[in-house]
Amino acid sequence: MNHNRIYKPNQTTYEQASGLLAAGELVSFPTETVYGIGADASNGEAVAKIYAAKNRPDFNPLIVHVSDRDSASNYALMNDLAKRLADAFWPGPFTMVLPRKKKCGISSLVTAGLETIAIRVPKNDVAHALISTFNGPVAAPSANKSGKISPTTAHHVEEEFGGELQMIIDGGPCEKGIESTIVAITDNHVTLLRPGSITADDIKKIVGKKINISEIIPPQINAPGQMASHYAPNTKMRLNVSNPQPGECLLAFGDIDNTTDTFNLNLSRSGNLNEAAANLFSMMRKLDAMGFSTIAVSPIPETGLGVAINDRLRRAAAPKE
Ligand code: TXA
Ligand code: MG
Repeated sequence: MNHNRIYKPNQTTYEQASGLLAAGELVSFPTETVYGIGADASNGEAVAKIYAAKNRPDFNPLIVHVSDRDSASNYALMNDLAKRLADAFWPGPFTMVLPRKKKCGISSLVTAGLETIAIRVPKNDVAHALISTFNGPVAAPSANKSGKISPTTAHHVEEEFGGELQMIIDGGPCEKGIESTIVAITDNHVTLLRPGSITADDIKKIVGKKINISEIIPPQINAPGQMASHYAPNTKMRLNVSNPQPGECLLAFGDIDNTTDTFNLNLSRSGNLNEAAANLFSMMRKLDAMGFSTIAVSPIPETGLGVAINDRLRRAAAPKE
């Protein structure tokens, strides 16, 4: 028995991991966005273990991960609009909420009893190899305790779950670092439920002018789990700060020469939003562990990927209930 829970990604690992999934156990694996904690989506008891491990309220449904568009259509009804978006953005950090096929075999615990199913094809060699070897649908939320910061390294997952998991596959740091964009699709309408690295503008370019895109502003969302406080460190957060106060550390963005006295980690010195997204959760974790009274955060532009970064920061800064 291997006591080290972190496994290198190779064929032996994929086979062992699929064996665990088939036996109703949980496996944590990397995707291009964040690390997931996966279970066989057709096995209700296995899925229940995810909710238990995460302390997740059971009204909050999970994303089903599959290997390609054809597999997705086994579980979800895909109209032309959904197919067009799938061809444009899969594999990739893009989740579609679609009508669930009636007898699709997915546990109703995954969809929390809804008539819809959230589905995506991740773009990550390790995730892809695991799902293909398992040859079935993998339900996987981000591998963090409910409401906490999403993990972007295997080490984060280990910190979060300690001995609770038998296997964490280490695929290195996640390329994107921020959870997938989630959209709900109806006949001729796209609703953006969670911003991510595929932006509303990227979607508009694919769907054209005839399709309406609406953006839902939290917290009036019908998607469970879009509650205000989320992705939250234990330390208080203060946003849009140009002049940090004594006792605060700074999660910086861009050139911040004028605040060099303050302890800081810089999301991107050059002001690159992709780099900032990839660093966001691991830098939040590091600062959270350092014992400052408050994590102050530099202003981040509300453009492109900045929309998703600011969404996560606002949730992290929201008062906890
Ligand atoms: O990047 C990602 O999406 C990561 C990786 C692991 O794939 N997964 C992730 O899962 O962020 P999770 O469970 O942390 O977030 C999934 C979100 C939740 O807010 C949930 O409410 C929403 O998806 N969701 C799932 N099924 C839904 C449905 N049928 N209708 C509306 N929202 C749904
Ligand atoms: Mg999550």
